[in-house]
Amino acid sequence: MKTLIIFFSMGGRTRQVAQTIATELHNDEVQIEELKYGGKKARSLVNEQDAVRRGDLSHFTFNPAILNLAPYDRILFGTPTYGGLPSPVFEGFLENCKNAAGKEWLLFGTCRLSQGRTFNRMREIIEQKGGRIITQQMFKGFFKINPNKVKAFGQSFNK
Ligand SMILES: Cc1cc2nc3c(=O)[nH]c(=O)nc-3n(C[C@H](O)[C@H](O)[C@H](O)COP(=O)(O)O)c2cc1C
Repeated sequence: MKTLIIFFSMGGRTRQVAQTIATELHNDEVQIEELKYGGKKARSLVNEQDAVRRGDLSHFTFNPAILNLAPYDRILFGTPTYGGLPSPVFEGFLENCKNAAGKEWLLFGTCRLSQGRTFNRMREIIEQKGGRIITQQMFKGFFKINPNKVKAFGQSFNK
């Protein structure tokens, strides 16, 4: 099973979750990739969010090979929650990537208080692209995300 873990993280919490999941996946060939924002401040990302949603990834750095999902059996996508929605780069990535259809998608997110419509929105977009969502998991914590919950989530795919 070839698994691609893609994540976006501004403050590092979602990165930590993605890395923990990657180390717990023992039966898969795992590739982990970050969509990294090049802007200086979160505020500029807020200003750019509509353009990013429409597919403008010019302020992000990432391995361009991941825009073709054909080599992977399943894709784990991780995002923080912003205003009850996924990061705009989730939508922008889906606008640009090829071969999302027919893939197994596993969603994870981080938030502090309430996930709102994060997974509903992600589901709408992935289903529009013909993908299939296998599972979704939000890691909530105002100050800290419980690492044991993250490990258990990663380990659940080894069965
Ligand atoms: C602009 C902004 C909006 C946010 N909106 C929400 C929200 O609606 N619900 C919530 O629980 N947390 C919200 N948060 C908190 C983040 O989702 C949370 O801190 C997340 O774990 C950050 O991930 P990161 O460290 O990988 O960037 C928001 C944070 C920011 C900066």
